[in-house]
Amino acid sequence: GQPPFYDMFMREHSYLRISLTEKCNFRCLYCMPAEGVPLKPKDKMLKNEEVLRLVKLFADHGIDKVRLTGGEPTIRKDIVQIVEGIASTPGVKDVGITTNGLVLPRFLPDLKNAGLTKVNISIDSLDRQKFAKMTRRDGFDKVWKSIELAQDYFPKVKLNVVVIRNQNENEIVDFVNLTANRNLDIRFIEFMPFGGNEFKNDNFYGYREMLSLIVEKFGDDVIRLSDSPNDTTKAYKIEGFQGQFGFISSMSDHFCNTCNRLRITADGNLKVCLHGNSEVSLRDKIRDGSSDEQLSEIIQKAVNNKKARHAGMDALKNLPNRPMILIGAYSIPS
Ligand code: GTP
Ligand code: 5AD
Ligand code: SF4
Repeated sequence: GQPPFYDMFMREHSYLRISLTEKCNFRCLYCMPAEGVPLKPKDKMLKNEEVLRLVKLFADHGIDKVRLTGGEPTIRKDIVQIVEGIASTPGVKDVGITTNGLVLPRFLPDLKNAGLTKVNISIDSLDRQKFAKMTRRDGFDKVWKSIELAQDYFPKVKLNVVVIRNQNENEIVDFVNLTANRNLDIRFIEFMPFGGNEFKNDNFYGYREMLSLIVEKFGDDVIRLSDSPNDTTKAYKIEGFQGQFGFISSMSDHFCNTCNRLRITADGNLKVCLHGNSEVSLRDKIRDGSSDEQLSEIIQKAVNNKKARHAGMDALKNLPNRPMILIGAYSIPS
């Protein structure tokens, strides 16, 4: 194999996030403007073979975990083939998907057979109307079914809950209660500002406040778990409950010092940080006929320019970025 991609802060990058599409069947208010984002021509998007070529290259440099995001990754017609190709790439141990769950049941058996190992599903409210307000679409029932079905296929399913003040903080305890008899991992995510979303200081809700609501309810039964290395999440559980929960505190207590992530946008740009703006097109290099050595060199050069951090309240407030839908994690170009 080739040497791992280290940055100037000796962070080794072993986790690649790939966005497969800029399209989504929801319009979440934290992810994109109400009117959506302009569609790019299909030929700008990476094709299956291009994705797989990059995965092979990154895996050769020590990437062992790949997560597929979007937009909504299940919108890609070739999602199963992509998962299959990635799962069978030497060196890749984990292939995950982050999805809104809307049409997931249709693909679950095939995705499992193709080698998918992890499923994270976004669900911001357990109340049908509030769910529709946050996603700007109706779909609660389907998403809930999808969560139930996913648990039949995967031992531990993670749920992503973006917490927004005056929207859903009053459901935090209800979400924790879901872990009583289910092996769910509920991650409460601090709202982050991105181009075109509805972030305001007034609707930010920090993780300490979330935790204190939970402690108020469960008292000494709240147990701090140890975190896996490079995890985004501070993990907790309630004594006697089957599942666990945690907080993704990109704003109030960032975790950039242990960052092991690189990302590729659906249109083939390498983004060395979720929030940083520097991007380099791998798609254009592939289509120009660049060799693996040339691609590796471009990637290492970009990684060399990765900043110590971009997350944190102070850093993020005035940083221009794409909307989340265009970055992949669900980034308006600056
Ligand atoms: P696992 O692979 O299961 O650990 O999931 P994950 O937390 O890495 O990814 P997921 O796609 O489920 O994203 C959950 C939340 O974490 C989203 O709000 C992401 O924007 C945020 N997130 C993911 N990666 C990063 C990162 O590198 N930096 C920051 N600041 N936030 C991130
Ligand atoms: N702030 C925090 N999390 C976000 N996500 C999307 N946009 C934002 C934002 N502005 C989360 C979604 C999805 C994950 C990939 O990213 O909850 O689960
Ligand atoms: Fe990594 Fe950038 Fe996220 Fe920090 S903000 S954890 S450096 S991707």
